[in-house]
Amino acid sequence: MVLDHLPSAHAPLFSAAETARAHAWAPYSHFPVGAALETDDGRIFAGCNVENASYPAGTCAERVALGTAIATGARQFVRLVITSQQQDPTPPCGICRQALVEFAPALEIFAVAPDGRAARWSLAELLPAPFTPASLENV
Ligand code: THU
Repeated sequence: MVLDHLPSAHAPLFSAAETARAHAWAPYSHFPVGAALETDDGRIFAGCNVENASYPAGTCAERVALGTAIATGARQFVRLVITSQQQDPTPPCGICRQALVEFAPALEIFAVAPDGRAARWSLAELLPAPFTPASLENV
């Protein structure tokens, strides 16, 4: 769903994503992305995409943010903000949806375009019928 603007309560997440995006390493795609995850206790972890001359070795901003958060001991996430330079808000890629659902099946996701227009989705909406840790039960 496209909103007029990101709710102002989430401005710190937007700032963190934009700060990370400024550090993106995207010399091949020229598509810098920033992402910021908010934990259930209000902490923020940010990431940017990190590309590589061996293209498949590159990583998306969302998974960099997630890895940083996990490495810090965070496990519960409520919200994600993604920023890019695309005219339309950029949704998370399929691999990132899968990485996120492991920890936050009820995640609220916002993507913000340069003109401030934002889109909002739930992760459940973007990844229906997910493969989760429960899917591995009884093996
Ligand atoms: N990218 C992200 O960082 N997040 C997404 O959800 C979409 C794609 C990056 C990967 C690559 O570095 C560049 O954007 C172009 O695909």
